[in-house]
Amino acid sequence: MQFYCLYVSYLDLIMSDTIKLKIDKNNLPKHIAIIMDGNGRWAKAHGKPRVFGHKSGVKSVREVTEAAAELGIDYITLYAFSTENWNRPTTEVVALMTLLVETIRKEIDTLNKNNIKLLAIGDISKLPAKTHKALIEGIENTKNNTRMTLVLALNYSSKWEILEATKKIAQKVSSGDLKLEDIDESLFSHHLSTVNIPDPELLIRTSGESRLSNFLLWQLAYAEFYFTPIYWPDFDKAQFYNAILSYQNRERRFGMISEQIKS
Ligand code: FPP
Repeated sequence: MQFYCLYVSYLDLIMSDTIKLKIDKNNLPKHIAIIMDGNGRWAKAHGKPRVFGHKSGVKSVREVTEAAAELGIDYITLYAFSTENWNRPTTEVVALMTLLVETIRKEIDTLNKNNIKLLAIGDISKLPAKTHKALIEGIENTKNNTRMTLVLALNYSSKWEILEATKKIAQKVSSGDLKLEDIDESLFSHHLSTVNIPDPELLIRTSGESRLSNFLLWQLAYAEFYFTPIYWPDFDKAQFYNAILSYQNRERRFGMISEQIKS
């Protein structure tokens, strides 16, 4: 059994390396956003409680972060907890918050060793004190890293973020600090929580669902979408490379026609 497992993981490694070789390093998305979905269904399929699915999902977080850094991706944003997720059973919310604390604390050294900066978007002030503390410590301890930025969307919702930006801009207009005619796309982007982060070129959602679920609605305006039936805990490096290959096979026209892009 042990030999069989080793053999299978060796085969996985060869397979993912073969897919990796097909990736064009000159056409990588700078920013990939991911809706990690299907932890609960994965756990159910394995006859385990939902929390087991979330715990198993941490391995995929690690795989994707490592694969992205190795390839030279600049930003990865993970939808880890939405404002709507508070409506889940309390035991699951508590387990997720505890898992976040454990994972952030455990991974800080690895993030530093790999020169990866941690950031968060969302209303993190409303997170439980322990989660908030671990997150702030993680952000502070990795703030000088430059290779890649890992952004966790926590207590995040796009409608919340857009409303917050609108309120800040309205306040500036009403106090006379900003003129109405100065409001443009760039100014609006600078009032979002993703300020200074380029918009994602690729969105990945696992588990077979094809919706955005209130995630980065403004920022994903021109992103390519990649939906896969794979549940998040089964999403590995090879799956991640496949998503990038799919992105590289798309023609991004930005409202123009094919001939204009090619000229
Ligand atoms: C969605 O699956 C997943 C989540 C809401 C949480 C994702 C959290 C982790 C993977 C844990 C830690 C993450 C980090 C970044 C440290 P679901 O529960 O909605 O699955 P279902 O749709 O099958 O019920």
